[in-house]
Amino acid sequence: MKAVILVGGKGTRLRPLTCKTPKAAIPILNRPALEHMLRYLEGHGIHDVILATGHLADSIDGILKSIQIDIRTLPVLETMPLGTAGAVKNASRYLDDAFVVLNGDIVTGIDLSEMARLHRQVRPRVTMALTPVDNPTMYGVVETTDCGLVKKFVEKPGWDRVTTNLINAGIYIIEPAVLDYVAESTMVMFEDYVFPRLLEQGEPVLAYPSDAYWIDVGTPEKYLKVNQDLLGQTQTGAVVQGEAVIDPGARLEGPVLIGPECVIAAGAHIRGPSVIGPQCRIAAGAAIEASVLWDNVTIGERSKVKTSIIASNCRVEEDCYLEQCVLGRGVTIGRGNSLDWGARIWPDSLVGCAPPASSH
Ligand code: GDD
Ligand code: MG
Repeated sequence: MKAVILVGGKGTRLRPLTCKTPKAAIPILNRPALEHMLRYLEGHGIHDVILATGHLADSIDGILKSIQIDIRTLPVLETMPLGTAGAVKNASRYLDDAFVVLNGDIVTGIDLSEMARLHRQVRPRVTMALTPVDNPTMYGVVETTDCGLVKKFVEKPGWDRVTTNLINAGIYIIEPAVLDYVAESTMVMFEDYVFPRLLEQGEPVLAYPSDAYWIDVGTPEKYLKVNQDLLGQTQTGAVVQGEAVIDPGARLEGPVLIGPECVIAAGAHIRGPSVIGPQCRIAAGAAIEASVLWDNVTIGERSKVKTSIIASNCRVEEDCYLEQCVLGRGVTIGRGNSLDWGARIWPDSLVGCAPPASSH
């Protein structure tokens, strides 16, 4: 079975992380998100993958080169955003049999092999994976019948229209005939248009509910959570990748992943769950807690970073305090600044040094 991964979205809710980096490239445990998805597909015997690209498509080639995996990948570019269904239609010349479509921003353990087996057995038009969540209003809410068919699909309803906690997990197995519902070169969404139309026409859409791990990495909070969940699943202490210089006087506590060529000074304290990307420098007395740093980030002496995300090439000078912050690529935070509660700093910005505390 072939797969189509939707990687053309703008990742608006993840800005400033996605201003210069497509969602598929953001690192999860120091590897591009796309690599996690490709490994998941490989684990379910899928070796042919179409990438429906759009926003920042050029960087997808570079990511693919950095991933060593036995999968054939074919990027198919949209010159304008075509929506989730329009993007698949745009790649339809490569699809002949039933195929799987995945939202590119999910990380999951849903049993795709079992889902495909069920699809082949029942042969509905679509088989849709469902997952339970606490707040269904952010997703496509899916009502099912007693015999396991989808009855109703409502995208991002208000609470007054939420009738179940089961939502669209963003994985579908689709028969090619479904693409007849999608006009060529037109913006069409599965969620707002194709699924409701199929149900109106009485076409069979099979539900595949699953309790397996599932997350949509669509916001900074979820991005931190997926890193922390995966870290917690794989390790308890510190893991250092490749060559890194870690002073014996540095303290690494809880699940901490340190990328290659990092330099961590004496008296630095890194508290998990945290991920430090390749080539980061953490100075003496600096403290990092429950945070994710991408590559080539410098944290100055005595600076504290808590529950924050810092993208590539950022520099936080001495004596800063950052809590719940998201820094885009290439940001510099001057000495002595204190930023908290959801500050988002756009790429390449410079936040000047804080003035010294007044003496009167
Ligand atoms: N190629 C292409 N072109 N991809 C797109 C486009 C487009 O025009 N628009 C969105 N995508 C991709 C995004 O990159 C992402 O991987 C996926 O389609 C879903 O888009 P999101 O923007 O992340 O949607 P969402 O999270 O608000 O909602 C969707 O996912 C939920 C589950 O995570 C919907 O499918 C919901 O129904 C679902 O519950
Ligand atoms: Mg999403």
